[in-house]
Amino acid sequence: MFGALYNTIESQSVADGLIYNMRRIAVLIPILVVAGLVAGWLYIRNAGGFSARATPTAVETIIARTARRLATPAGARDARNPVAFSSDVWAEARAHFADHCAICHANDGSGQTEIGQNLYPKAPDMRRADTQRLSDGEVYWIIRNGVRMTGMPAWGEAAGDDLESWKLVHFIRRLSELTPEHLEEMEAMNPRSPAELEEERQDREFLEGKPTEPSPGPPPHRHKEQI
Ligand code: HEC
Repeated sequence: MFGALYNTIESQSVADGLIYNMRRIAVLIPILVVAGLVAGWLYIRNAGGFSARATPTAVETIIARTARRLATPAGARDARNPVAFSSDVWAEARAHFADHCAICHANDGSGQTEIGQNLYPKAPDMRRADTQRLSDGEVYWIIRNGVRMTGMPAWGEAAGDDLESWKLVHFIRRLSELTPEHLEEMEAMNPRSPAELEEERQDREFLEGKPTEPSPGPPPHRHKEQI
């Protein structure tokens, strides 16, 4: 009889505890929601009008890179480079990188370009461990699919294996082996606007001692000039 009474009291107190906890949760949820809204509001207030000039915080970078890794299918991460490395493959990849990638990443992969440094997040220094630690498959996946909500575009056709992108993986793996001659050669392959080509023509003619004709087009535009 005492046992039954005890059980009743016990289940009574369990039920009481449950109600007490639910009440606490009911109070906690709105507090958390309000705290979240306040934190979000402060973040937006301090985001400087969401300027792309800012540098992401360490926490933001870790979250973004972790999310990117988790979003990469495991099979893609383990994929092996089907293109065997050779000096021809390397030369091809240098030309490709100079043409398509260097505008943001710089020929040496440092990311030190006007566009690369003014994106949010910035184009990373790919010579560093953060990039070199990625598997070949991961680097390939990033090149093929781009990175959402960043300046990194997807390259090549959506379907199928893209050997040109695999060659770029070889290039990224050998950034530390680039010589000054390689970089000079790549510089000559970087895309130029008609105005820049015209400026180069005039410089060349000036050096050759030819009278330089005034440029027919507008002068090259620079963003560095201040008023
Ligand atoms: C318009 C600018 C832009 C161009 C052009 C561009 N990238 Fe990127 N790339 C970025 C940015 C920004 C990131 C950083 C993305 C991030 O933080 O997740 C990035 C990231 C990467 C990464 C991952 C590196 C890392 O450690 O996170 C690789 C690999 C890469 N790019 C390769 C290339 C290749 C190869 C090309 C040319 C075919 C190219 N990118 C062209 C802007 C660019």
